[in-house]
Amino acid sequence: MADTITGMRTEHTNLLKLLYVLQRQAEIFASGAKPAFDLMQDILDYLTNYFERVHHSKEEAMMSRLATLTSDAAQPVSRIRDEHEKISKLAHTLAGNLDNIIIGSDMTPRDTVVNMIMDFVNFNREHVRHEEQFVFPLAMQHLRESDWQEIEKSVPADDDPLFGEEVKSQYQNLYRSIVDAGSAGHA
Ligand SMILES: [Fe+2]
Ligand SMILES: [Fe+2]
Repeated sequence: MADTITGMRTEHTNLLKLLYVLQRQAEIFASGAKPAFDLMQDILDYLTNYFERVHHSKEEAMMSRLATLTSDAAQPVSRIRDEHEKISKLAHTLAGNLDNIIIGSDMTPRDTVVNMIMDFVNFNREHVRHEEQFVFPLAMQHLRESDWQEIEKSVPADDDPLFGEEVKSQYQNLYRSIVDAGSAGHA
């Protein structure tokens, strides 16, 4: 149990670092300068292709198990599922907008895009806060060791391509920006 929850808390810390980088880029864009669109695309790519597939899946397996053990879980289970779905949709919409800006076919006003980025950042931050404060404690209270083992077995065991043993080549640039943000004391 401790390992699974510890792992998910570490993943939250990593997510918050990425959200900070996104926020910084939104601020640069809002100021009228050109942000690092490629960095923002890398973040959304990582979140949709790795984080959602592994972290969200693990939480949803946890919630499904929790729902069978206590009626207290009914509301949190549906909230977490709905929020994961919303996060996924926001990420895809935002990635589409950034793609269009890069190829020069997007006429969406700057403020609208900045607001989309910040809505995504803030929604994710609130989601993490809710999980840490209410959902993880509820899971720790009700799930047994065998439940945690089943949860671990049910999700892909891929190595994390950004925060894992080895930073994959497509995320090297993003990794450096996270280190830089951290050394500035803001990550
Ligand atoms: Fe979540
Ligand atoms: Fe989470």
